[in-house]
Amino acid sequence: MGFSEAQEELVLRSWKAMKPDSESIALKFFLRIFEIAPAAKPMFPFLREAGEDAPLESHPKLKAHAVTVFVMACESATQLRKTGDVKVREATLRRLGATHVKAGVADAHFEVVKTALLDTIEGAVPEMWTPEMKGAWEEAYDQLAAAIKEEMKIAA
Ligand code: HEM
Repeated sequence: MGFSEAQEELVLRSWKAMKPDSESIALKFFLRIFEIAPAAKPMFPFLREAGEDAPLESHPKLKAHAVTVFVMACESATQLRKTGDVKVREATLRRLGATHVKAGVADAHFEVVKTALLDTIEGAVPEMWTPEMKGAWEEAYDQLAAAIKEEMKIAA
């Protein structure tokens, strides 16, 4: 399962352009998830606690999750080319599997998050966006998601 140098370059170039603004882009990314799938909302315990009507952008944990997913997809892209494998520390991956099982995350949610991520990057760097760039981010995300899902099977 190759991740080419050209793909890595596309992910890194767009990441570099987004980085100074990564917090607000990450927030848009998470708001997009709930636009596509409002049903994902109650999965986040910190959203449930705050009540249905609390504005999403006021949740620091939500922002943190968005930034993490964003950064991890980018990091996984660089690792993919170097090692041909997703490199998230063993302990982290194990914990991620357990957390997402506990939260009731299913395959369909990973698809929603993927669409939201791609939409958000397209919106953030429209001048750079090409089918090749989309493909590179897709590949990076898919491999990261596959690694988490694998751990989820073990944790379930
Ligand atoms: C928690 C990453 C996809 C829902 C977390 C945490 C990380 C993370 C780092 C913090 C907890 C821990 O370290 O165990 C990721 C990555 C994803 C992904 C890299 C995709 C590649 C998803 C999806 C959903 C989701 C698809 C479902 C909508 C949650 C929930 C929590 C969580 C509900 C617990 C939040 C809390 O209560 O603090 N995720 N996640 N994640 N994630 Fe994800």
